[in-house]
Amino acid sequence: MKKIFSFVLFLILNNQIFAKEVWVSVGSDLVSKSEKNFKSAFRENQNFGDITILKIEEEFLPFLSKFAHQDFHRCGGFIYHDSKEDALKLVTDLESQDFAKKFSFVDYQISHQDMVNPMIESVDALRIAANIRTMAAFQNRYYTAPTGVQSQAWVKATWEKLAAGRSDATVSYFKHPNWSQPSVILKIQGKSNEIIVVGGHADSISGYFGGAAARAPGADDNASGISSITEIIRILMEHSYQPEKTLMFMAYSAEEVGLRGSKEIATQMKSQNAPVIGVMQFDMTNFKGSDNSIVLMTDYTNEAQNNFVGKLIDTYVKVKWGQDKCGYACSDHASWHMNGYPASMPFEAQMSEMNHQIHTPNDTISHSGDNADHASKFARLGLSYIIELDQ
Ligand code: BES
Ligand code: ZN
Repeated sequence: MKKIFSFVLFLILNNQIFAKEVWVSVGSDLVSKSEKNFKSAFRENQNFGDITILKIEEEFLPFLSKFAHQDFHRCGGFIYHDSKEDALKLVTDLESQDFAKKFSFVDYQISHQDMVNPMIESVDALRIAANIRTMAAFQNRYYTAPTGVQSQAWVKATWEKLAAGRSDATVSYFKHPNWSQPSVILKIQGKSNEIIVVGGHADSISGYFGGAAARAPGADDNASGISSITEIIRILMEHSYQPEKTLMFMAYSAEEVGLRGSKEIATQMKSQNAPVIGVMQFDMTNFKGSDNSIVLMTDYTNEAQNNFVGKLIDTYVKVKWGQDKCGYACSDHASWHMNGYPASMPFEAQMSEMNHQIHTPNDTISHSGDNADHASKFARLGLSYIIELDQ
């Protein structure tokens, strides 16, 4: 009896019984440079070049984020997987994809200035700012918090109002079985079933241990992206735009905890062979750096589509732009990319000038000059992307 008791005690002390183990994928450098005592939390790992898949106790995930942040100046930098198979699938998917071939038929010509110009003139920074403020006023938009559910109800109602009277448009929840916050999807059915996706994450988080109660305004990360998208929707509706292709606008849940919302959506669409011809991700659009106004992320994105987006900026937004890398799967574009769809992520600044208030109670619009001038450029870019790709 005593032996059994001490064995159980031994297991508890070693965290073998209560610790939930999960799989994540991270940049390999993060693993190789982890300190010895931290490495002891890794239960199993397998290296695939730039990516390593890692079995780790769930309660160590915040420490992993903190480490990635402090030592690698990344914000967290892991993708959450439900199983080892799921983690391995990411690696094989990434290795087997030949994007250039698969999407070589997509027409990246720019030839609809007459249509695009009047629309981008309608972009209203005051409306974008008002929406950022409304979203940031929720205590947080955390994926398991009641306020995270309420904030999505607000996004849904807002998009419904904009789409009112359009029989070709529907707004719905995409429910996620394992957490309460749904994603929101507005679909405008076009003449063809080919799909263009414009999305961003609607959830927010505070710190690494913030949880469901902490204050997380997430004004820049990512009320800004959702508000740029909401303005795009408003203008398409105001101009009674009837798309050729099917447009889908998405406000993803649970990005901040490992791209979980977008992953479920992109994986489901892939399994249904959904013909998504292009994806644009807006995550952080309102904090301007000193130089380039728009920065195209070159990793986990499609080069041909990125070149097209660069030309769209020159033609329509007319601001200085550049390129950079997150260095890891930093946002929902990666969920699409890993499912074989061409994605782009136009970002607000060079990484070296990133907004250091994100994931804190200070991520408010006052940190972006109390206006949405910068986020307006992304609304213009998104409008030009949709129309030129659609026509
Ligand atoms: N918006 C950020 C990503 C980001 C931050 C891009 C700074 C570029 C500069 C996003 O919401 C985020 O926080 N992503 C996580 C990773 C995710 C897989 C949990 C991150 O960067 O830690
Ligand atoms: Zn974030």
